Amino acid sequence: MPRLTSLTISPYFDIIVVGSGAAGLYAALCLPAHLRVALLTKDTINMGASNYAQGGIAAAIDSEDYPLLHLEDTLKAGVGLCDRQSVQFMVENAGAAIAHLVEMGVAFDRKGQKLAMTLESAHSRPRVLHSADTTGRAIIDTLATKVLEQANIQVICQAVALNLWLTPQKDRVQGISILYQGKIQWLKSSVVVLATGGGGQIFAQTTNPEVSTGDGVAIAWRAGAVLRDLEFFQFHPTALTKAGAPRFLISEAVRGEGAHLIDVRGNRFAFEYHPVGELAPRDVVSRAIFHHLHKTAAEPTHAHVYLDLRTIDSERIPYRFPNIINVCREWGIDVFQEPIPVAPAAHYWMGGIACDLMSKTSICGLYAIGETASTGVHGANRLASNSLLECLVFASQLSHIKIQPNLVAPDSEILQVNSNWNREMEKIESIRQMLPSLMWESAGISRQRDLLDGALHQVNSWREDLASLNIVQFLDKILPNQMIELNSTDAEQQLRITAETLNLLDLGYLILKSAAWRTESRGGHYRSDYPQTSEDWSVHTLVQSDRLWKFSEYCSEN
Ligand code: FAD
Ligand code: SIN
Repeated sequence: MPRLTSLTISPYFDIIVVGSGAAGLYAALCLPAHLRVALLTKDTINMGASNYAQGGIAAAIDSEDYPLLHLEDTLKAGVGLCDRQSVQFMVENAGAAIAHLVEMGVAFDRKGQKLAMTLESAHSRPRVLHSADTTGRAIIDTLATKVLEQANIQVICQAVALNLWLTPQKDRVQGISILYQGKIQWLKSSVVVLATGGGGQIFAQTTNPEVSTGDGVAIAWRAGAVLRDLEFFQFHPTALTKAGAPRFLISEAVRGEGAHLIDVRGNRFAFEYHPVGELAPRDVVSRAIFHHLHKTAAEPTHAHVYLDLRTIDSERIPYRFPNIINVCREWGIDVFQEPIPVAPAAHYWMGGIACDLMSKTSICGLYAIGETASTGVHGANRLASNSLLECLVFASQLSHIKIQPNLVAPDSEILQVNSNWNREMEKIESIRQMLPSLMWESAGISRQRDLLDGALHQVNSWREDLASLNIVQFLDKILPNQMIELNSTDAEQQLRITAETLNLLDLGYLILKSAAWRTESRGGHYRSDYPQTSEDWSVHTLVQSDRLWKFSEYCSEN
């Protein structure tokens, strides 16, 4: 895939889309072709969680399946917090989204002439379309190729979005600031679409790529947007756990195809925690592993769990899971001879920027799509393979967008900055290192009041420490229409690390506060001090600035 960069960028676009995952790319393609679109991304065009997606994309399009069944499975997984109308919209539009992908050339696996479907946990039918175990890559390669062919879309890689530009009344968006090629500049537009993906990097153990630092949610929060359900994070049960290796995902489809989850003794312990064993909902399986590891921790050689693929037809494995075989082999594991050591890792953020069916946020002109958004389709726990589907269905809503014409970008004042932030970076980098471990220990798979409060206190103290640093004050004080030229590539890198760390700290504060507030267990949010689901908490948590409140209007019954 070509890595596009551009030296000069127009200061004005009809629409700015931030993020080049499934949501951002598909939105850019669905926008009316007469609009001038900027597609910003902070890495290469194909880098993001979408490209990592393995299992597939859910769609009730088989002759023996129905959108209504997909809706029911989704509502059940969401444990009472899905917005029924949004789910219905998603499942009913799944067929059109898949047809469009196939038409554009996405090569899903087939069984004869028909699209092949697999089963994943908590789905009542096999309805997950896939392209071996690299479904995300197949989708992203196709979408990115199409985007690069579109004359109206300017793709701007290695551009980090920093902050929204609001009108003086702070009631609508008029652009965004970016860090790009040694400069900080403001791009003007009456519509900004945040498609910046999830925030798994806030946890020490995550399947998410490095770009998943939750920037969009933090940017929207600072601008005053309403956020929703930030305490709900999904922990995937089976990430590779091997010294030195990243937490590479071992797809749920592997269990769907018949792999067993076992402990050191070969015992299929998941049945001790749920009647359907390893095919129980993700939060249940993750907690089963978490508890089993704790139970066996007294004997360190026993405190491991594994996924055993040898129960799957050995001729089927290379066809279904070629990438998993290869990555495991790179880390010295032969899946045909031995089980894979696995453990849970932070995977998907159900919470995000609150949006309606048209992907509109609470700020005029600001839209959010994909994992960064909270459309209401996932509730307290996302059903497997519903995320790619959500990205496409809600991104396509932008085809209906209306633009306010005649925005003119005023001239910029150019300022040169001689940065000298080296000493301050030590502090920032050490917080960037410590925060994910703190979050994993306090707001990971099992949470409790004292740990949440202690972590919140620590995060607030780090936020205060950073607020006094010159580099942070510099970032805070950049005014719209100032173009800042930096004196070195080091300065650009330092600003990027600082911006991401500030975002992660803001999100840490918000996740901890929301998790401490919700005194029950539901879906991805498990409180060991409140282990039951409570009817009183069949409500969303809404957040705006420092205010938290409960909201029940959009809750579904399941
Ligand atoms: P992403 O694909 O993460 O894209 C975010 C984009 O925003 C990136 O281009 C990034 O560079 C850019 N960005 C971020 N911050 C900034 C900034 N400040 N400035 C500029 N650009 C920025 N879901 C499924 O439905 N099926 C699956 O099989 C599946 N498997 C998965 C496997 C793994 C390992 C992971 C991690 C997730 C998986 N998921 C799956 C979840 C799903 O992949 C993601 O939720 C979904 O792809 C998110 O898409 P997105 O477009 O919202 O974000
Ligand atoms: C997986 O392949 O297990 C991930 C699927 C998903 O996150 O939806």
